[in-house]
Amino acid sequence: MKKLNVCIIGTGSISDMHFQSYQNNSNSIVYGVYDYSRERALEKANEHGVEKIYHSLEEVFNDDKVDAISVCTWNNTHADITIKALNSGKHVLVEKPLSKNVEEALRIEEAVGKSNKKLQVGFVRRFGTNTKVLKSFIDKGKLGEIYYAKASCLRRLGNPGGWFADKERSGGGPLIDLGVHVIDVCWYLMGRPRVKSISANTYHHLGNRANIENLSFYKAADYDKEKNSVEDLANALITFENGASLFVDVSFTLHTQKDELQVKLHGTKGGAELEPELIMISEENDTILNIHPQIDHVSFDFANAFQNEIDSFVSSCLFEKPIMAPVEDGVEMMKILTGIYKASEEKREVTFLS
Ligand SMILES: NC(=O)c1ccc[n+]([C@@H]2O[C@H](COP(=O)([O-])OP(=O)(O)OC[C@H]3O[C@@H](n4cnc5c(N)ncnc54)[C@H](O)[C@@H]3O)[C@@H](O)[C@H]2O)c1
Repeated sequence: MKKLNVCIIGTGSISDMHFQSYQNNSNSIVYGVYDYSRERALEKANEHGVEKIYHSLEEVFNDDKVDAISVCTWNNTHADITIKALNSGKHVLVEKPLSKNVEEALRIEEAVGKSNKKLQVGFVRRFGTNTKVLKSFIDKGKLGEIYYAKASCLRRLGNPGGWFADKERSGGGPLIDLGVHVIDVCWYLMGRPRVKSISANTYHHLGNRANIENLSFYKAADYDKEKNSVEDLANALITFENGASLFVDVSFTLHTQKDELQVKLHGTKGGAELEPELIMISEENDTILNIHPQIDHVSFDFANAFQNEIDSFVSSCLFEKPIMAPVEDGVEMMKILTGIYKASEEKREVTFLS
């Protein structure tokens, strides 16, 4: 059987997970790579035994041997690369966020519609085993109607700098980098209700705290301590058309004791904590029960979830399996993320037409 030939565009940090997961999938191979930085592309191609190193995006798009593309570049280049790839007849897995704004997201959606090709958004948390298990309980009605969710992804020190801290290339700070994951996983588990209104705040009080000594944190390859144009904290209350609400707070840096990751969902029949560890909360025989599922990955496991994400994409391209993170979800997420920035900038509640 013919394997899916994939080209990875953007060979930075996250590309490692793409290389590894495609190579572990017996139906796909990483056939080629392309990066602005020829040196980085060469290094990764050698490391992973990749046949082809392209000199330009056009060369990738014109190569009939390439069936699918993983877009692992800066956020401001996702839309352009994705649309051109779809127009050249390639399937696309695009890293989160789908784009920098809603207008770009809608153009991508239009290109998907015209192309007859598959597009999956890199909402990797949907593919965690703990998420899949919880979703199966939610689908059986165990939580009833989910009317409130709460998500926190707080770093006390962790502005990666480089393009992540350059609003022009990233579109924003912790909200667009970390918030996108926890908002998406809540929204997905809540049944993907349409957004109705958003109140939000962003803060730029602490900067990137490049002064901190004796405590290490991840820094982008092009880290420059003098450059930072993104928020250090964002919080938001998102209300949906079905009356449900989601409260979220995310930071690159905050005066807090330790990093925190929490995802909680509350329904009419039960509740659940997805992170830091899957627990379900129920009531039976006039007694409250905390239920601890016995599964291999009770917390988000990056490698496991990534493998599931890539396996799902490959199956969609080769075997017409439904796309688990489709373009319309990427569009709705861009509405939410840009709505949060707008509500914060304009210091008012932002509402959406139904
Ligand atoms: N799914 C996840 O959990 C996850 C985690 C980290 C990053 N990401 C996403 O992956 C993307 C890349 O992040 P990263 O951490 O790998 O960044 P990175 O800075 O480590 O790598 C980005 C690479 O893309 C290259 N590049 C940028 N624009 C390009 C273009 N138009 N053409 C060719 N090459 C280009 C750069 O030269 C660089 O090598 C971002 O969209 C980010 O949001 C997702």
